[in-house]
Amino acid sequence: MYGMINRAIEDLVVATDGRETWDEILDKADINVGEFNDCESYDDALTFKLVAAASEVTGQSSDSILHAFGRHWILYTGREGWGAVFDSAGNNFIDFIRGLDAMHSRVQLAMPHLKMPSFSVIPTEIDGQFTIGYRSDREGFSPMVVGLLTGLAEQFNERWDIEQTGWRSENGFDSFTVRDVSIDCAQERAISAG
Ligand code: HEM
Repeated sequence: MYGMINRAIEDLVVATDGRETWDEILDKADINVGEFNDCESYDDALTFKLVAAASEVTGQSSDSILHAFGRHWILYTGREGWGAVFDSAGNNFIDFIRGLDAMHSRVQLAMPHLKMPSFSVIPTEIDGQFTIGYRSDREGFSPMVVGLLTGLAEQFNERWDIEQTGWRSENGFDSFTVRDVSIDCAQERAISAG
């Protein structure tokens, strides 16, 4: 993974638990890289070592760390230096996910050797509900995708229920059901207004 991903994990740990906890995690993971370079590629195994060590030191599950990190990445780290790319991808939750592959391709122009994931948006029969498909060469990042999607909804001030409902072990790719909760709120408001 590119260094910016590992640095985002550092960002989150330092912001929530402090620099000493981060140093403890690096010690536990036996990692001596100094500073992560944003534009350098690191072995994916290093990212998983960081997550496992963070889980041991903080007592949180690896899934919840990946989730928190995905959300943090969207709301804070990811925008650093990429604000313009981010803003061009779409101006609501669903449009942004529809434009994600094109946006990742633009990022790929700037950074060689990337292995970008691919996302699809499929409407369901239920109003305001969609299935998001996530295809990747990598395995083990689906909790992070839930966190990324959660951060994305927050970024647009939208309210979505996000849940993984399909797994690559069964279907060859992961999928998530997302439901626009503001529709429920609007209906509740209409009912209570009589
Ligand atoms: C400004 C916005 C964004 C930028 C600059 C960006 C950039 C990147 C970069 C550099 C990587 C690492 C690729 C590699 O090391 O090979 C990556 C991976 C990834 N991105 Fe994005 N990204 C952005 C937004 C998003 C959003 C909104 C999502 C939402 C779902 C997302 C989902 C992912 C996932 C799941 C991975 C890695 C896991 C995998 O390969 O399956 N990204 N992105």
